[in-house]
Amino acid sequence: MLAYRHAYHAGNHADVLKHTVLTCVLRYMNQKDKPYRVVDTHAGAGGYSLQGRYAQKKGEYEHGIARLWERDDLPPSVADYVARVREFNSGAKLEQYPGSPAFARMLLRPKDQLRLFELHPTDHRILTSYVGADRGIEVYDTDGFDGLKGQVPPSTKRGLVLMDPSYEGHGDYGRVVASLRDALMRFAEGVYMVWYPQVSKLEAAQLPKRLEALAPKGWLHARLTVQQPDRLGFGLAGSGVFLINPPYTLHDELAAVLPYLTDVLGQYDGANYLLEQRAA
Ligand SMILES: C[S@@+](CC[C@H](N)C(=O)[O-])C[C@H]1O[C@@H](n2cnc3c(N)ncnc32)[C@H](O)[C@@H]1O
Repeated sequence: MLAYRHAYHAGNHADVLKHTVLTCVLRYMNQKDKPYRVVDTHAGAGGYSLQGRYAQKKGEYEHGIARLWERDDLPPSVADYVARVREFNSGAKLEQYPGSPAFARMLLRPKDQLRLFELHPTDHRILTSYVGADRGIEVYDTDGFDGLKGQVPPSTKRGLVLMDPSYEGHGDYGRVVASLRDALMRFAEGVYMVWYPQVSKLEAAQLPKRLEALAPKGWLHARLTVQQPDRLGFGLAGSGVFLINPPYTLHDELAAVLPYLTDVLGQYDGANYLLEQRAA
């Protein structure tokens, strides 16, 4: 049974990191004329009301996108991300937050392709209503780890895979590694981006090292820590993104972004970031 609903977390610090990096990568992919395919293995609902009862329950977006909304000192890559969130909102007020499929839809060109997997029946229905009828977009209500096999390599041999599971059970960590290993055998030159939570679990701490071992041609790892776990060691201290075959421009872009996000999104004095890479 799927208990996780991204609507509770939309626009939080983890979404800010993930979607800022996603927009950087898509802008880079758009620099070449050749069409590409984006595969979002865990797509979510596509868009979220920040006024609704889910987002309002804990108000996580108030410590995420809301802290950036009125700032006039955004680094260019963060400004571009916030501009996409503004594009998704009809007025000047922050009322809606776009999910990864919506960011991709805003940035992809008509010749590019988007493949979305979402297992939760309600979120799949909402996702379909957002993006379903567009040309070049296909939405599946099946398992994204399994579905990836049929999506790589794309015919143009250009593509980005976003893997953003909910890590509800322990199984997701192992499935991330196994499905990426398989996808890399089919499509070694693809760009792969994995999001993971910074929580007190051995699997989460070990995931970046396990992903490094899959990436002989180069990787980038960015992590943003914004808060302390609670007294019992629970809670989302921060999150990370790990990219295999990242754009060569990404490290320098994030070197300007991460200190800023640490400063603006940090909720305690020990807020910090990590940025490391091994170039091809
Ligand atoms: C973290 S959310 C995705 C958020 C989205 N990528 C974004 O950035 O806006 C994870 C989603 O994966 C869905 N999900 C969980 N297991 C799945 C699976 N095996 N295949 C496809 N979707 C799955 C959940 O229902 C949830 O909506």
